[in-house]
Amino acid sequence: MAQQITPPDELWWLTFNQFLIGALVLGTFVSIVFAYFAIRYWEKKVKPNEAEVVLGPGRVAPGTSKIGWTRYTLVVTGIIVTLLILATFPRTDYVEASPPETDLVIWVTAFQFGWEFEYPNGKKVVNTLVLPTDTVVEFKVVSRDVFHAFGIPEIKGAKIDAIPGILNSLWVKTPSEPGELNVVCYELCGVGHSLMVGKIKVVPPDEFQAFLQST
Ligand code: CUA
Repeated sequence: MAQQITPPDELWWLTFNQFLIGALVLGTFVSIVFAYFAIRYWEKKVKPNEAEVVLGPGRVAPGTSKIGWTRYTLVVTGIIVTLLILATFPRTDYVEASPPETDLVIWVTAFQFGWEFEYPNGKKVVNTLVLPTDTVVEFKVVSRDVFHAFGIPEIKGAKIDAIPGILNSLWVKTPSEPGELNVVCYELCGVGHSLMVGKIKVVPPDEFQAFLQST
């Protein structure tokens, strides 16, 4: 079993949290600058007739056209946004590629209205998939009829289109404790769309092996 790899959902949480922190830092900085100017220029009033002459569209009042603060704001924004983007690219590549180590490949065929799952040994099940705990699983996703989208709501980022004639793949690491996950269709695909739900039963590896060998 693979232990060293970082599953996509953990990477998504990490990325989300970093963006959140970046947004908070930026928001705080901008709010402070905003408040500073609001207080500093509170009392200054432009005489009505002077305003008419000086303040037209695209003009600023004389003596206020300093860009010092604007420059700092742009620099701070630029640094934070650039760092976040640079951090995101390799992660996206990592998630979109096949997993560094795959323990199990499952073929997923979407149809109106359900899911067919096929194991490496040819065993097929419909709507209820059994998977072992703590395992890297790659889903190869196709559709038999119309556009669907395969997703596991409990696992962040586990969602991919199921398109006729196109092979999409998605990988996850199953939970380390036995339990149950949901499978849902994320794309309106007909009158039975909302009924297109399945289950993933996560069981201990020995139980999984027994299941796999059963007919
Ligand atoms: Cu299949 Cu919605």
